[in-house]
Amino acid sequence: MTTAKRIGILGGGQLARMLVIEGFKIGLEMHVMSRHSTDPAAQVTRYWHEGDVSNLSQLAEFFKKVDIVTIESEFMDENTLSQATRATGTAVEPHPQLLSQLSDRLTQKQWLVDNKIPTAPFVAVRNAEDVRDFFKGHPGGIVLKKRRFGYDGYGTFIIRSSRDFDQWIAENGQKAADFIAEEFIPFKRELAVQFAVNGRGEVLRYPVVEWKAQNSRCLWVKGPARGGSGTKLLLHLEKALKRGVFHGVIAFEIFEIGAGKTHSKHWFINEVAPRVHNSGHYTIEATPTNQFQAHLRAILNLPLPKTPKLWSPGFAMWNLLGTSSDVSDDFLPEVQIHWYGKTEVRPGRKMGHITALGASGDAALKKLKKAIKGF
Ligand SMILES: Nc1ncnc2c1ncn2[C@@H]1O[C@H](COP(=O)(O)OP(=O)(O)OP(=O)(O)O)[C@@H](O)[C@H]1O
Ligand SMILES: [Mg+2]
Repeated sequence: MTTAKRIGILGGGQLARMLVIEGFKIGLEMHVMSRHSTDPAAQVTRYWHEGDVSNLSQLAEFFKKVDIVTIESEFMDENTLSQATRATGTAVEPHPQLLSQLSDRLTQKQWLVDNKIPTAPFVAVRNAEDVRDFFKGHPGGIVLKKRRFGYDGYGTFIIRSSRDFDQWIAENGQKAADFIAEEFIPFKRELAVQFAVNGRGEVLRYPVVEWKAQNSRCLWVKGPARGGSGTKLLLHLEKALKRGVFHGVIAFEIFEIGAGKTHSKHWFINEVAPRVHNSGHYTIEATPTNQFQAHLRAILNLPLPKTPKLWSPGFAMWNLLGTSSDVSDDFLPEVQIHWYGKTEVRPGRKMGHITALGASGDAALKKLKKAIKGF
């Protein structure tokens, strides 16, 4: 292990919680800065620091107490983070400039284009007229996406008719410049893949998974996805990451499009998440080096395996959305439960998840479907 052992995480949600739990397992001291002592990650460490991640002086105090800082959300202010680093000498990984670039859907798209990574055609939008023109040019439909702070489908609007268009203009026309417009892609499946990248030029690639959304929120993940390995795009992504300066876990959401449709590309990258990702939670049970430990190893510049071994041929994960249960009710012999410790249940809120292993992704998913009847 290196000398850097004290890791600081900005934010206290479930991603931070799982980073903390997995970090302690590999001998790290896991610090969290968040607003409330009841936050999911605050509950699982004695090194919790109350603070607001947008407040420079509180941030700098936190930076002084740790060796390296990382994030659970890409929506951080680049300048504030850089100032805190200058004041304390504590680095943030992934690099704040790259986080900022990837947290804006327009500059993220430009990053994809610059790296020759296939993605749905898009335009920057200045006003409602630009949206009208783009819709005229794409009568099959367009999708408007808020440039910043969109998540779980909040900030994503699918326009497939002039009625949808009129409604969107009435509600958002004034702030059209906050959006990008993208062509609607009639995808066959939604896939995802995570990579961990360290500063030694090593890239760990997890298997491609298939996932399903319900009301724009991930409901389940299964894998490895059929036909999801060895594609040129994966090698291309790996090369782009090797060339770049990103360190940590990065996830890509993918649209698989049917052969012979309007586009010649088989896969489009829909979205880049420069952090650990919901589509990779299964790695806790299914691999020896899960995405949370891989992220911590990557930012500490420790060696990474090239491909993770899988403990079973198939795996699946199901998000527990808007539901809670007493632990005593949860006797489920073939699934692993993760509750996030959220006190308030809201419809659709990610409260926890369950994972199962099996002979295939489908077999594992079947176990989960049976188990969720109990929730
Ligand atoms: N161009 C498109 N064509 C068809 N469907 C789309 C398109 N873009 C997005 N969608 C659908 O909307 C969902 C949400 O879009 P996207 O992932 O871009 O935004 P998000 O709200 O930021 O989601 P996340 O929570 O993953 O960050 C996608 O998973 C997909 O199902
Ligand atoms: Mg998404």
